[in-house]
Amino acid sequence: MRGTVTPVTSPIVASAHAQRAIASLERARRHTLIIMSPLDDTDLATQHDPLMSPIVWDLGHIAAFERLWLLRNIDGPIEFAEMPGTYDPFEHPRATRGALPLPSLDEQRAELAGVRALVEARLCELSFDAESPLLRDAYVVSMVAQHEWQHQETILQTLQLKQGAPYRAPRAWALPSAARTFARGAMVRFPGGRVRIGTDDRTQAYDNERPAHDVELAPFDIDVTPVTNLDFLEFVERAGYDTRKHWSDAGWQWRTDTGIRAPKHWTRDARGAWTARTMDLNEPLDPLKPVCHVCYHEADAYARSVGKRLPTEQEWEAAATWNAETGQQQFAPWGDEAASPTLANVDQLGFGAARVGAYARNVSPVGCYGMIGDVWEWTSSDFTGYPRFAAFPYAEYSEVFFGSEYKVLRGGSWATSGDVARATFRNWDYPIRRQIFAGFRCARDA
Ligand code: AVJ
Ligand code: FE
Repeated sequence: MRGTVTPVTSPIVASAHAQRAIASLERARRHTLIIMSPLDDTDLATQHDPLMSPIVWDLGHIAAFERLWLLRNIDGPIEFAEMPGTYDPFEHPRATRGALPLPSLDEQRAELAGVRALVEARLCELSFDAESPLLRDAYVVSMVAQHEWQHQETILQTLQLKQGAPYRAPRAWALPSAARTFARGAMVRFPGGRVRIGTDDRTQAYDNERPAHDVELAPFDIDVTPVTNLDFLEFVERAGYDTRKHWSDAGWQWRTDTGIRAPKHWTRDARGAWTARTMDLNEPLDPLKPVCHVCYHEADAYARSVGKRLPTEQEWEAAATWNAETGQQQFAPWGDEAASPTLANVDQLGFGAARVGAYARNVSPVGCYGMIGDVWEWTSSDFTGYPRFAAFPYAEYSEVFFGSEYKVLRGGSWATSGDVARATFRNWDYPIRRQIFAGFRCARDA
């Protein structure tokens, strides 16, 4: 399922972490090329949605970020902006990127390959046991790899939004079907107490995941699986979208402003049957798949309609990683292995969420299934810095987004790399956004 293991580029690699980072960088590029393979110049140059960049911009930005961090910043004073010029995301907001003079597909491919060739030569000269936290364990290589993986997910969101002929997804593997069944709305009890959140890892974690810190949680119940299409269809059919009391004030404002009454990419035929589309797969609503393409407000309204609420991100993380038996935080729900397509629905090429419970080992100590992969899960938390947060290596990744405007999402989706979909990884977006491959699970005070 996973590509073959790539030989390590550097002959003087210091650690397994550095080897993993370099392998991730190479595998990320293979996925970029696979995802691009069905696309032509028009697909790349078109601004498919004002929320997104033309895909050729993402590709140029991937190359520019790699050039900045692996060819320039490793040698000298760190430039704290992402990069200057055309591919600076702050200088050019997404909605304006369609008007930039951008290269052709062939030119952009050549740029990606050219930068990578220089980087491979550079990696052979570097020592990753350096004092510098940027070079140690090849942290900066892991960061550049994760940047490419994350922009691939952005590109996949763009392709899902594309009008006209749908993107022909190069599906590399079939998704498993449900391994077991669950009682509707089943929950497990998290007993509460002192748990560890976040990480001190400096080999791959982003600054916003650090430092590890203890929090005291009250007991709570949390859904065993993400909310399914069937669950959400019931909300639609019992007029959940029209029932004011389920919605927060901001949520109701969004609901009335937009007139929305179903998840994005759901359509209803004349006989009342619903279909949901993922790229070029338009299938009758699968009752057992997690609902996807709902915004925070829809998730919040659903939770209230069934007498529940969204979990905080601390509750989510504790339910994913806290092992009460050992009194320790695990790296992943299943233990200490990194995510891979045999453990969870990650790494993009399945092109869609699987049915809940399809990955038998994707279960946490407390009994929550599917926390990694399939769909991002909205939490009720604002995106803020943990206590004693320190920006590293640049404030423009996380810190400039801290505040009450964004909500945190956890767990990664089918479009997320297993090298990014860590239990401590924090994603964020505005509460009205539905382009993300996002669903949710509910919680409730015990
Ligand atoms: C973490 C997904 C919110 O896309 O804005 C990419 C990731 N940061 N380049 C984003 C990111 C810089 C980021 N998210
Ligand atoms: Fe970026």
